[in-house]
Amino acid sequence: MEEVIAKKRILSAIQPTNTPTLGNYLGALLNWIKLQDEYDCAYSIADLHSITVRQDPQKLRKQITESYALLLAMGVDPKKSIAFVQGHNPAHAELSWVLSCYTQFGELSRMTQFKDKSEKHPENINAGLFTYPVLMSADILLYQADLVPVGVDQKQHIELARNIAQRFNSVYGDTFTMPEPYITKTTAKIMSLQDPTKKMSKSDENPNACISILDDRDTIVRKFKRAVTDSEAEVCYREGKDGINNLMSIYSAVTDKSFEEIEKEFSGKGYGDFKLAVGEATADMLAPMQAEFQKIINDKKYIGDCMREGAEKAYKASRKTLQKVYKKVGFVELPR
Ligand code: TYM
Repeated sequence: MEEVIAKKRILSAIQPTNTPTLGNYLGALLNWIKLQDEYDCAYSIADLHSITVRQDPQKLRKQITESYALLLAMGVDPKKSIAFVQGHNPAHAELSWVLSCYTQFGELSRMTQFKDKSEKHPENINAGLFTYPVLMSADILLYQADLVPVGVDQKQHIELARNIAQRFNSVYGDTFTMPEPYITKTTAKIMSLQDPTKKMSKSDENPNACISILDDRDTIVRKFKRAVTDSEAEVCYREGKDGINNLMSIYSAVTDKSFEEIEKEFSGKGYGDFKLAVGEATADMLAPMQAEFQKIINDKKYIGDCMREGAEKAYKASRKTLQKVYKKVGFVELPR
């Protein structure tokens, strides 16, 4: 008899705050698509996470639907993978509470994203912002994920999830799978086009700093033309050339060309030619997904059907873990 080997599990999520950037796409989302055949994948729109920063409810609703449609347009296959909205599965908030009782105040205080965000929003340092990594750990551990495809900025949060899992397992016996981050080195951190020492971020106030994956061709090309580089005129990957290094990483990810090939292609040419090529290649790569998005976003029934199916599958895939945890900590099951 043929031996059936269970596929390893993947879980990842993206916040629905603003349209995803090229950083999100190259750093994480492309891997989500690539890994779908080899793994059992669950991909989520992290709506619960997004309210740690004040959101306009009407805008948030629109963003959740659009982000979900974008996942489908990008190639997340709702038949192959679980594509769901986090808030549609109550198990995330439930496990998060339990895990928060196994997470130390000191651990959460050391999270760099908490420190950065509290500096950015000193008027609203809420408890959710502080416990955000616990909810993220719940997302991952609920599905017994082996791998978590992310950009490098999420690595510390995954390390925390591992610490929580290890602590829980050592008290109650094997309960959670130990998750590993899955990070592609060259696209682990795509930088801002205006300040290449800073991460490209959805929330950047300067619209020229980031490419939204729904930007039109002219906007993409224009933003790349304005990208900050350096005063040399040599397209090569070298320490200190942050702007060019970033553009080379993007061009390499978009065209599959190696750094050596890129250096050869632009040897003797100026930055103008290079920036134009990066802009055009990026626009070409995003165009089919953008066209697909326009189709899907107008098909509310399809989006609704996929969301329902995703929510059901997510609930089923996670229910066992939550039941196991409730039992292990000593809660009483409702007598039948
Ligand atoms: P978020 O929404 O900020 O980003 C989504 C994904 O994009 C990656 N990313 C980048 N990668 C490369 N270069 C960049 N400039 C860049 N900017 C963002 C992020 O690393 C992430 O993989 N907390 C998460 C969402 C989340 C999650 C989870 C992720 C909630 N629960 C469980 C993994 C597992 C976040 O805010 O990602």
